[in-house]
Amino acid sequence: MNTHEALLAELQAQRGKLKQGGGAERIAAQHAKGKYTARERITRLVDEGSFQEVDAFMMQQGSQMPGDAVVTGFGKVNGRIVALYAQDFTILGGSFSEIQGAKVAKIMDLALQSGVPVIGLNDSVGARIQEGIHSLGAYAELFWRNTQASGVIPQISVMLGPCAGGSVYSPALTDFVIMTQGSHMFITGPEVIKAVTHEEVDLETLGGSDVHTSVSGVAHFATANEDEALTLTRKLLSYLPSNHAEPPPAVKPTDDPWRMDAALNSIVPTDPSMAYDMKQVITHIFDEDSFLEIQAAYAPNAIIGLARLHGQVVGIVAQQPDVLAGVIDINASDKIARFVRFCDAFNIPLVTFVDSPGFMPGLAQEYGGIIRHGAKIVYAYAEATVPKISVVTRKAYGGAYIVMSSKYIRTDLVFAWPTAEIAVMGAEGAVNVLYRKQLQRLEDPQAEQERLVAEYRQKFATPYVPAAHGYVDDIVVPAETRPRLIAALELLRNKRVSSPAKKHGIMPV
Ligand code: HXC
Repeated sequence: MNTHEALLAELQAQRGKLKQGGGAERIAAQHAKGKYTARERITRLVDEGSFQEVDAFMMQQGSQMPGDAVVTGFGKVNGRIVALYAQDFTILGGSFSEIQGAKVAKIMDLALQSGVPVIGLNDSVGARIQEGIHSLGAYAELFWRNTQASGVIPQISVMLGPCAGGSVYSPALTDFVIMTQGSHMFITGPEVIKAVTHEEVDLETLGGSDVHTSVSGVAHFATANEDEALTLTRKLLSYLPSNHAEPPPAVKPTDDPWRMDAALNSIVPTDPSMAYDMKQVITHIFDEDSFLEIQAAYAPNAIIGLARLHGQVVGIVAQQPDVLAGVIDINASDKIARFVRFCDAFNIPLVTFVDSPGFMPGLAQEYGGIIRHGAKIVYAYAEATVPKISVVTRKAYGGAYIVMSSKYIRTDLVFAWPTAEIAVMGAEGAVNVLYRKQLQRLEDPQAEQERLVAEYRQKFATPYVPAAHGYVDDIVVPAETRPRLIAALELLRNKRVSSPAKKHGIMPV
């Protein structure tokens, strides 16, 4: 009969084997590419000593790979529990198998039932070819769980290797995708592309972090290396509630709630054709160093991100007058709408800064479906029941005013700066439409045109008319925006509204 010592020694030996992954050679190859192993990644992600592994010994019958190509379990990040899985590229390229699928499904079920976020550390070549339908089924089970968990618990995908096929569809169903430089995401690899289209394309051009953070919009963040990606994951989690029934985590405020930066009073140029940087407006108003921009390189004419105001988490949506004058195009619509829905699902109040001449004109945008895409912004804001506050800093023309958190779509408090111009369109455009024929009849139309533009601006392009009718709740001194927003959020913290009973709406997609 075995002694207790022998039994414990056997367990230690078995556990030791798990750490060997796909063997020393493959681990060295992983390190040579600047990549960590699955276990090294977990150690760097969670609080020291907090990781609890699950299903470490699970494997295919007759297999020699306990745990298969994934490590699953739960641990703590800044003292709060998260569930996680980390794919092991050193074992058959981290390929997704029936066993890997069962392990990931179990940890996701535990996360969903317990109301804790799920973090996926992805480094996988996709479906394990040798397992055929079983690996496809395992993926489908994961996608099903991603969908069930959507809006219930935050889901974050960190991309750390060449992720192909199914291993990019699960991330696409999650809330945030973080890519390291050197990781890749693609549906079909270079070999398949060559066979089908005869095109030669390298992995970086196909699906590198630059492509997905600036062109496709698939990824929300790119980092230089794995350490940065894991640190960013911890930071992102610090803004998110563990589940949809909790408020986001507040921190003890360190910044003065009455801070009023005089610079804000002159930050918006009085000449409406001059640009300025809305990110400066944001940093002057929110708690020091608290702004975490999301999708910074994708549709930079729109800004989205998380920040804190007097220690409380808020979601920020804004236009960037520095890029394309802050016009709303197809990509900006997608970026804004998705973020608004994320914030609404997770009880994160929305603060919106409006300065936009409207929707982007032109054939490319119309053919691309700007009508359908732009509608997503209205839908998302109108559907959102979290506290909604907006600040019109300058242009809010036409559709831009309506869709960007206007009073009509039930924004709780709409503030305007004295520079705000809320009108159907800009003065020049309006004069052109209204007086074109009259002006054509004049010998020297310029002087009359200038007079009409000035008159229009005086009459319509000010915040006073909308304020007179209650469509703007107050015209505020820009420097006072921080305390005004803090007070408004305090009022709205326990806001409760109910929407009509339905199965679910049909969001324009
Ligand atoms: C099983 C695989 C595999 C696969 C690669 N490997 N792909 N094993 N199933 N799908 C193995 C390799 O044989 C190798 O094993 C190890 O994984 C690492 O692969 P390498 O090719 O050496 O790595 P690398 O050079 O970095 O290239 C990575 C890669 C390439 C670009 C991802 O492996 C590749 O193109 N693989 C095929 C990707 C793919 O088409 N996957 C299926 C997608 S379809 P050894 O033993 O040598 O270490 C899919 C279905 C679901 O996922 C779709 C749902 C929508």
